[in-house]
Amino acid sequence: MKLLECSVCGHVEFDVAPDKCLVCRSVQAYKENDAAIKRPGQTPGGEADKKHLPFIKVEADSFFAGSTDSVLVKAVIGEMEHPMKAEHFIRWMDFYVDHKFVNRVWLSPALNRPAAAVSIRAKSGTVTVCQNCNMHGTWMTEQAFGA
Ligand SMILES: [Fe+2]
Repeated sequence: MKLLECSVCGHVEFDVAPDKCLVCRSVQAYKENDAAIKRPGQTPGGEADKKHLPFIKVEADSFFAGSTDSVLVKAVIGEMEHPMKAEHFIRWMDFYVDHKFVNRVWLSPALNRPAAAVSIRAKSGTVTVCQNCNMHGTWMTEQAFGA
């Protein structure tokens, strides 16, 4: 899987680079960068992993009770809660289904804990969550759901 990173906002696309960044709209800003994301199996391990790898849960969509065509994707950073201080915090979380970008959630160190939940219109597939720590870079977890 090829990683293409936007040189302006850090957004990552998989395999194919769109002309404009899907987050910041910069033109032709994607550059191939295999080291753009720390993935399970390519991480330093230990406490750094526990504080940075997204911890994903895919549940029935409680925003829309009884929904059969959407799921609620919850992601927490991480298994041990990551700090949210002005000098060290989670800047954003990007959500994907089957490696197609869905949306970015920006986080405030003053007002957010390191977590987000989004309602995604899908019954099955693979969810990817990438999070960016202002000090330690971008980390990714994937999880299959449904089917
Ligand atoms: Fe960090």
